[in-house]
Amino acid sequence: MDLDQVIARRRMVRNFADRAVPPELVDRLLERATHAPSAGFTQGWAFLVLEGPGQTAVFWEATSDREWRQADPAVMRAPVVVIPLTCPGNYFDRYAEPDKAQPDQAQPDQAAAGLGDPRSWAVPYWLVDAAFATMLILLGATDAGLGALFFRLHRSTEELLGGLGVPEGWVPIGAIALGWPAPDRASPSLARGRRPLDEVVHRGRW
Ligand SMILES: Cc1cc2nc3c(=O)[nH]c(=O)nc-3n(C[C@H](O)[C@H](O)[C@H](O)COP(=O)(O)O)c2cc1C
Repeated sequence: MDLDQVIARRRMVRNFADRAVPPELVDRLLERATHAPSAGFTQGWAFLVLEGPGQTAVFWEATSDREWRQADPAVMRAPVVVIPLTCPGNYFDRYAEPDKAQPDQAQPDQAAAGLGDPRSWAVPYWLVDAAFATMLILLGATDAGLGALFFRLHRSTEELLGGLGVPEGWVPIGAIALGWPAPDRASPSLARGRRPLDEVVHRGRW
C-alpha cells in the first residue's frame, strides 16, 4: 500500500477476529512509532503492551464497568492493547538543558528559553509527541492489514498502571486496541461527514 492508500483506509476498528497478532508484527509497529517527531528529540513516550487474554482481561477489568463487560463488547476481543504513555517531567528536564534553556540567535526556537518551568508551556508537547507516535501505530496497523482503535480511558488507571510497574510521572493518553479486523458497525460520529478542505484551510488569512 502506498501512503495515500494507508491514510484513506485507516479507520477505527471496533471488532476483532479471534486470532493472535504475531509479537514481531506488534514490535514493528512500535519500532515505527519511535520514528515520530518529538520536541527537542525528547522522545518522552513509552508503550505498555498487553498481549493475550490474560493480560488484556486485567486491563478491561480495571478500566470498565462489570455491566459493560457482561454485554461482551466486540472491542474486548482485541488480542493486544497498547497504552501509549507520556512523561511531562522528561520535557521539563529536556528544556532545562543548556541547548534549550539558553536563547540561541541561530535557532528559530528561542522561545524555548524558560521551558524548564512547567508553567511556561503554551502547548503540551508531551501530548503532541505521544499523539504523533500513536498515529504511526494506527497507520502501521492499517498498512499491515490489522485493525486498531484509539480510545479514551474511562476510569483512572493509576492503580492498574502502578500494579504493572509504571513509574510515577508517566500518564496514559488513551489506549489502542489492536488485532485482525472483523466486521463492525461504523461509528455514528462518521455521519457528521468529513469537513471539506475549503472549510478547514485558510490561505493568507482566515
Ligand atoms: C482523541 C480521540 C479519542 C477517541 N476516543 C474514542 C473512544 O473512546 N471510543 C471510540 O469508539 N472511538 C474513539 N475515537 C475514535 C473516533 O470516534 C474516530 O476517530 C472518528 O469518529 C473518526 O473515525 P475514523 O477514525 O474511523 O475515521 C477517538 C479518537 C480520538 C482521536
